[in-house]
Amino acid sequence: MSATPEFGDAGLETLHEILNAHRGMEGALLPILHAVQEAFGHVPQEALPVIAKDLNITRAEAHGVMSFYHDFRENPAGRTVLKLCRAEACQSVGADALADHARGKLGIDWHETTADGAVTLEPIFCLGLCACGPAAMVNGKLVGRADVAKLDRILEGAR
Ligand code: FES
Repeated sequence: MSATPEFGDAGLETLHEILNAHRGMEGALLPILHAVQEAFGHVPQEALPVIAKDLNITRAEAHGVMSFYHDFRENPAGRTVLKLCRAEACQSVGADALADHARGKLGIDWHETTADGAVTLEPIFCLGLCACGPAAMVNGKLVGRADVAKLDRILEGAR
């Protein structure tokens, strides 16, 4: 099989290593998608048909599973990944207004990345920080009691 220029032979080799590491595992699709995202920072479009073929499922099935879970990205993330909690406890203490502020300030919607590649905005559903909401996560680091001022400082640092 020939690799596309974007994905490259190295990418294909990495993907095959991931597939081999999960060979014979029951319910391998999710762990494979996680491993691919960890290796590439996202799940490259070119990877999906290879994964589907290897698992003997259709491309649509693989894509359906991938899009069901909010964690998987189809495109490379920005340098800063800002996740804002959208779950109930955080909503009750102002998460919606905070999300509106972030989207307005960045000029992007959920799952999008700013044109300069600085920030990707993603929703997340409970970070286990409910008592300190609204909760956020910045490049894997938890942020409690997020407010507009805190968010603005984070975004300014990211750009
Ligand atoms: S509801 Fe937001 S951290 Fe739990």
